[in-house]
Amino acid sequence: MSDSESKKRPIRSYVIRSGRTTESQRKALEQHWDDYVIAYQPDLLELGRVFPQDAPLTVEIGFGMGDSLLQMAEDNPAQNFLGIEVHRPGVGKLMNGAEVRGLTNLKVICHDATEVMKHCFASDSLERVLIFFPDPWHKKRHHKRRIVQPEFASLLASRLRPGGSLHLATDWEQYAEHMVEVLENEPALLNANGRGNFWLNPERPQTKFERRGERLGHGVWDLLYRKAEKADQ
Ligand SMILES: C[S@@+](CC[C@H](N)C(=O)[O-])C[C@H]1O[C@@H](n2cnc3c(N)ncnc32)[C@H](O)[C@@H]1O
Repeated sequence: MSDSESKKRPIRSYVIRSGRTTESQRKALEQHWDDYVIAYQPDLLELGRVFPQDAPLTVEIGFGMGDSLLQMAEDNPAQNFLGIEVHRPGVGKLMNGAEVRGLTNLKVICHDATEVMKHCFASDSLERVLIFFPDPWHKKRHHKRRIVQPEFASLLASRLRPGGSLHLATDWEQYAEHMVEVLENEPALLNANGRGNFWLNPERPQTKFERRGERLGHGVWDLLYRKAEKADQ
């Protein structure tokens, strides 16, 4: 790769893991891809064509194996859910679960969330954005790979509807502090628990990475931000 090419390449917040795909995940990827996966295009999604019902949309970024997303979609049939993930075995697992439960309010985009957020959703359109246990990139020289960055926070804020929420969780204390620093500096977002405070009793299902962190003795930090309502005209 030439110097100019490597300079142009965006910094990614993920590496594609080679993790094993089980037989049932492989079958789901083969048989149900078109039922659940929306092919990424750098164009606005027509949500009326994506979901059978017109309903508030929650987007989960980096859903991993999809346990939390599946549970939320099952528990809230009157809402729509869209997951963004690049790890294909996780997409297969999620589709299996959705198929068994007959869910029609759940879709997936298998692409970089930064590009999806930038191109696929209109301003002021999303009810909720969720980022649970993103890769902490704990070495200092890797910090730029963290998905929570000022520019991304401002992009997410622009896509939320006024009053919509951004919920984040991490099991890595320094990443929690980094999230607070970035998000408290985003003028369009307000901390629902008071400036600089974590959300002590978060409403969300437990995730696979959270369970792993628990086994390793990690703590958990949740944050909830809301987009300011528009002032009366
Ligand atoms: C540490 S895992 C956590 C998974 C899940 N949220 C959980 O708590 O079990 C982070 C996930 O985010 C995904 N990810 C990271 N950056 C991403 C991006 N820019 N676009 C889509 N997925 C991304 C990774 O593939 C990985 O599966």
